Amino acid sequence: MRYRLWRVAVFLAALVPPSLWVYQAWIFDLGPDPGKTLVDRLGLGALWLLLITLGMTPLQKLTGWGGWIAVRRQLGLWCFAYVVFHISAYAVFLLGLDLGQLAKDLSKRPYIIVGALAFFMLLVLAVTSNRYSIRKLGRRWKQLHRLVYLILGLALLHMLWVVRADMAEWAGYAIAGSALFALRLPVISRRLKRPVPGPAEKMTKRFQ
Ligand code: HEM
Repeated sequence: MRYRLWRVAVFLAALVPPSLWVYQAWIFDLGPDPGKTLVDRLGLGALWLLLITLGMTPLQKLTGWGGWIAVRRQLGLWCFAYVVFHISAYAVFLLGLDLGQLAKDLSKRPYIIVGALAFFMLLVLAVTSNRYSIRKLGRRWKQLHRLVYLILGLALLHMLWVVRADMAEWAGYAIAGSALFALRLPVISRRLKRPVPGPAEKMTKRFQ
């Protein structure tokens, strides 16, 4: 398989941060509120992975190297996994697995509803990230996966609500996200080189 080593390297690079954080929590090295620190780090990690995933197509167009596209799906699935860890850490450490507490939290922290919306959309993208769905959905697969930009907007809104006091950090993510979105607008995207056909393009071409 092409880019095998590269794929393995990306897999390990994505696996290391959450493993390290869990280890740090285990040895009480995550500060005075390890549960909250874990939730925050996993949320931030998910946002980084979302931005990195969205950077793969522009990078391929700019450099012509197919390796970026070869790891795009894996990175998207890692983003989903981080979100699942983020939500699990929230449920265990901040809610104490108490559903009554969740109801109270939803009125106190409405940003959780925005995060949940982003999560359900990510779930749809994750379950349709396979060859069967690509073949079945045809052209609609690409349209469906454009939801990723809405997910990015919701994730940024969710974060903004949490870090209201530290706008500088949030602005950095918002600028990066806006730049990545702009790079996909046809007027700009056309000026970059043509991409290596991704799984959706290959499949839809085959079925045209
Ligand atoms: C059901 C879905 C979700 C729930 C319940 C949830 C829950 C939370 C909670 C409770 C916090 C704040 C913790 C604190 O008090 O500091 C938080 C922060 C955050 N979440 Fe989520 N979240 C969800 C979905 C998402 C998604 C989909 C993303 C990104 C793709 C995300 C990214 C973040 C980020 C970046 C932060 C801020 C971290 C920081 O301040 O360093 N969350 N989330």
